Amino acid sequence: MVIRHPRDENEMLTLGYAVGKMLCAGDLVLVDGPLGAGKTTFAKGVGIALGLNAQDVRSPTYSILELYPTQPRFAHSDLYRLSDQQLPDLGLSEIFDPYTIGLVEWGAHKLPRIFPRQLEVTIAIGTGGMRDVQLIGRSTAMTRRLKSLT
Ligand SMILES: Nc1ncnc2c1ncn2[C@@H]1O[C@H](COP(=O)(O)OP(=O)(O)OP(=O)(O)O)[C@@H](O)[C@H]1O
Ligand SMILES: [Mg+2]
Repeated sequence: MVIRHPRDENEMLTLGYAVGKMLCAGDLVLVDGPLGAGKTTFAKGVGIALGLNAQDVRSPTYSILELYPTQPRFAHSDLYRLSDQQLPDLGLSEIFDPYTIGLVEWGAHKLPRIFPRQLEVTIAIGTGGMRDVQLIGRSTAMTRRLKSLT
């Protein structure tokens, strides 16, 4: 497990960027934490690492799923507004796909365990609004890659 304390939005973007640079096609990243924790900001950093501009990465809170034609493709989802009944309707195959980097906000408890996740990012908000970001690799390869996270 790796722990980081990004002090502001910009440092959260930078952390997402560093993680984005080590992701590979087929990876699924779950990003969890309370409302306004910085999940979308982290996802923007990942998108920038894949070649997008910050303003291109929209929050999928209402659209549920945003797909970006990056290389590899980037699938960014937010399951907050989705009930368990709606889950099968969402194109989960878009998110977990060998040619795609998938990143899901609010997925830890909503995504069935059958979706093997490579990385779990949990953001907590501490006293004074400090962010505590825990990154846990769920595969041997990801644990190894996390060790070289700058
Ligand atoms: N250290 C920090 N890292 C990230 N965001 C921070 C930090 N400190 C303050 N913020 C602010 O917190 C907000 C985070 O917003 P963001 O949309 O990324 O959160 P979220 O977790 O995706 O929210 P939601 O649960 O609504 O999807 C931004 O307004 C940002 O400026
Ligand atoms: Mg969000």
